[in-house]
Amino acid sequence: MASRFYVTTPIYYVNDVPHLGHAYTTIAADAFRRYHLLRGHEARMLTGTDEHGLKIGRAAAEAGMTPQAFADTMSARFRDAWAPLLVRPDDFIRTTEPRHMSLVKKLWEVIDRKGDLYLGSYEDWYCVGCESFKTEKELLPGYLCPLHPLKPVEKVKEDTYFFRLSRWEKPLLEFYERRPDFIQPDSRRNEVISFVQSGLRDLSVSRTSFTWGVPVPNDPRHVMFVWFDALANYLTALGGEGDPLRRFWPPNARAVHLVGKDIVRFHAVYWPAFLLAAGMSEDELPSQVFAHGFLTVDGQKMSKSLRNAVDPLKVAKELGPDAFRYQLLRAIAFGQDGDFDHAALIERYNADLGKNLGNLLSRTLGLCTKLTNGKTPAMGIRMPLEDDLFRDVTAWAEKAVTVAWDGLEPHNALAETMAISSRANQYVDQAAPWAEAKKENHERVGTILATLLEVLRWLSVLVWPVMPDKSSEMRAQLGLPPLQPELEKDLWALTVEPRPAGQPLAPTGSLFPTLDADATKALLDKLLPRAAAPIDLAPAGPTGSPAAPPPEDAPPASITYDHFTTMDLRVGVVKSCERVPKKDKLLRLAVDLGEPEARTIIAGLALSFAPEALVGRRVIVVANLAPRDFGKGLVSRGMLLATGPSDALKLATIDGDAAPGLRLR
Ligand code: ME8
Ligand code: MG
Repeated sequence: MASRFYVTTPIYYVNDVPHLGHAYTTIAADAFRRYHLLRGHEARMLTGTDEHGLKIGRAAAEAGMTPQAFADTMSARFRDAWAPLLVRPDDFIRTTEPRHMSLVKKLWEVIDRKGDLYLGSYEDWYCVGCESFKTEKELLPGYLCPLHPLKPVEKVKEDTYFFRLSRWEKPLLEFYERRPDFIQPDSRRNEVISFVQSGLRDLSVSRTSFTWGVPVPNDPRHVMFVWFDALANYLTALGGEGDPLRRFWPPNARAVHLVGKDIVRFHAVYWPAFLLAAGMSEDELPSQVFAHGFLTVDGQKMSKSLRNAVDPLKVAKELGPDAFRYQLLRAIAFGQDGDFDHAALIERYNADLGKNLGNLLSRTLGLCTKLTNGKTPAMGIRMPLEDDLFRDVTAWAEKAVTVAWDGLEPHNALAETMAISSRANQYVDQAAPWAEAKKENHERVGTILATLLEVLRWLSVLVWPVMPDKSSEMRAQLGLPPLQPELEKDLWALTVEPRPAGQPLAPTGSLFPTLDADATKALLDKLLPRAAAPIDLAPAGPTGSPAAPPPEDAPPASITYDHFTTMDLRVGVVKSCERVPKKDKLLRLAVDLGEPEARTIIAGLALSFAPEALVGRRVIVVANLAPRDFGKGLVSRGMLLATGPSDALKLATIDGDAAPGLRLR
């Protein structure tokens, strides 16, 4: 019987539009699905949208729509985002669908019958951004959630159903112990274990103060906690008990939940606890929760207010979805935080895809056109050169297959794949078929080119999980049909089986045309999110840019409120400040904006302030100003507001002890 593989992504909140972070998880899931399909496994991928809860209810109200109409519109954005990125989920679930809601109610009823739900009342802090209660010790000063410092948490007091999470503390710890790979990577696993060891409180799982949710069975004053509703999607999407799709649930399949590190706790603690409470055995729990890291864009945290959220569809349109997928899965070690750097994207595109893989294909086909009539040659006697190549390639392919893909390490799988391509490029130079052709050594020429065609055939298989369209294009040029995975047929069985001689090849040009400096610049101009920002005040301030005209210069008589809100003004606290060597006007400040790391801001304040006089001061920062490069590695990421001549500047500040990161409006 074929092995089964079930991979899920988080279901995304519909208060946002699909961005790079969502694309990252979803593309990874699709690549794993495709790898398993190639292996002849039965593979299934699920994604979808999370549509209930306070956050969505409020976003709908702000948009002036009913929650359902709002969710319909926004969910469609997600549904439509995936095909252009070559993602083919087998199912797309929405938590407002009847098929989901009816089964969530059943799950609730089962847990209730088993005694793990009870009515009580609750008073605590709630972060709407997280859709989660917070204890005081989890909060920053000023009652701010560390993940959503811009929206203060709210005090919530109401009747609620509690889930007896405390009861599951010991069973969960024992389960983690028995199944060390349930939570991966290990750093996340350790985090979860210490969280559970520190003691689990019963969890509030219903709300009465709003209605946008799944009604609690037999107590319609309550709607279910949005996470109870959402987590259940992984199971409700497989239908009720007895549904044939249940074959994708353990123990009948390997089920992997891919998530970002922001939501590990929900998946690794609450979800298995709900399932155990519903009477499932450990064997029936998901096989793994794999948490990947968080992406930054060009070194900055992605956020709506910074307007640097990358539109994956735009990158895919400009550079092709295959290259975009390649970059995401190759450049970032899966499981660790990483940066999506636009310049690096193009560099890697040129180096790995253009000059390595693409070049291997075009030079091989070029040689075939010239030397073997554009047809596959016969492989004659193999020399040590070929044997060495095949030995290396087999070893690397093995490694790419068993270790990297099975271990959810696409970055390593791709590194190995590209190593094969480099190795083959090296072989072309060593074997020098053009020299053999001059000596009229036709059989030798045939062997060399047949060897290369064989390696290219393997490569077309190895890249398919990540670059399915380019794989097909490559195969078309090689005169091969696109790969069509079949159940129980392992297409990854890479053995040396040279094709018969005389088959037509069909070169049609570069697989990945490289981009020169001009083309790179033109593409970067199109892609860089800041180029798309509606206003760019970069040269407008006396502090950020000493040479700029004074801000009084002809401001427009009026701007719209929307226009004003594009400017992200925030409270900052100066953490440290120093002179910039050889620049007598500039100070370099580290300013706390409530973000994980202080911002570096370079400001023309040195003629007015001694550096130590600024430490601890509250300032007003234009937080979404495009980064400004002062050369020598000095990049300013924001601007302070000030007025006056450069030797007698006055800084704008704010009353009281407003928390760093708070927005001004
Ligand atoms: O949390 N880097 O939905 P969500 C990498 N509805 N991945 C990122 C990212 C970034 N900067 N930003 C977002 C929810 N993601 C709940 C989930 S599941 C039962 C309910 C990805 O729309 C990453 O996968 O906030 C993260 O976990 C997810 O988007 C959060 O999506
Ligand atoms: Mg989120």
